[in-house]
Amino acid sequence: MKGRFITIEGIEGVGKTTNIQFIQDWLTTNKIEFISTREPGGTELGEQLRNLLLHGGHVSNNAELLMMFAARAQHLDEVIKPAIESGKWVICDRFTDSTYAYQGGGRQMDVATISQLEALVHGAFQPHMTLLLDAPVEIGRARAAKRGAADRIEAEDLAFFNRVRDMFLNRAKQAERFQIVDATQDLSSVQQQIQVCLQTLLESPQ
Ligand SMILES: Nc1ncnc2c1ncn2[C@@H]1O[C@H](COP(=O)(O)OP(=O)(O)OP(=O)(O)O)[C@@H](O)[C@H]1O
Ligand SMILES: [Mg+2]
Repeated sequence: MKGRFITIEGIEGVGKTTNIQFIQDWLTTNKIEFISTREPGGTELGEQLRNLLLHGGHVSNNAELLMMFAARAQHLDEVIKPAIESGKWVICDRFTDSTYAYQGGGRQMDVATISQLEALVHGAFQPHMTLLLDAPVEIGRARAAKRGAADRIEAEDLAFFNRVRDMFLNRAKQAERFQIVDATQDLSSVQQQIQVCLQTLLESPQ
């Protein structure tokens, strides 16, 4: 039996990384084999690109978009698809919805171009479930601020992140794989919502 592909999306500081820990614990309890990975990154090439993307100097919009998809192509080939084929679940901190949200929404790049690159890199291959952790930008920022210095993308302004959030929410309305999680709630309520989603996925036919 093939594994499942779950992606976790949302703006900075909404709790993606925190809740991935919870998902890992849930999978372990349920004796489900999994790997946990992140984008951009997840491979040696991808992590090098991540470093250039987040901590390098000026990167043009097109270069940024292509680097995101270059990292993703490698990640799919080397890590994500082989794991799913071998029956493991894959938990991924951000995926293509983040590209639509940040480059399409935030940077206002042409969404049709992003869609063409998506078709090139992963065609019909989509996550089985995408958890969109949603909260107002101010809440995410306040939580993330506790964590230290902002990276190149985190340094954008409020309007940028509001466009990012809006694009995530728009996309969530368009595909059934999305589950919107109210991330303004306290952590235990957020995790209750996530647990219901995981249980539903576990019980759904492949
Ligand atoms: N529901 C919650 N209520 C209060 N604090 C939370 C909640 N969820 C996460 N946090 C806290 O908010 C901070 C940011 O969380 P986390 O790093 O998981 O966010 P993230 O979505 O992974 O951010 P980034 O996109 O920057 O990686 C952490 O200090 C975490 O403990
Ligand atoms: Mg994180």
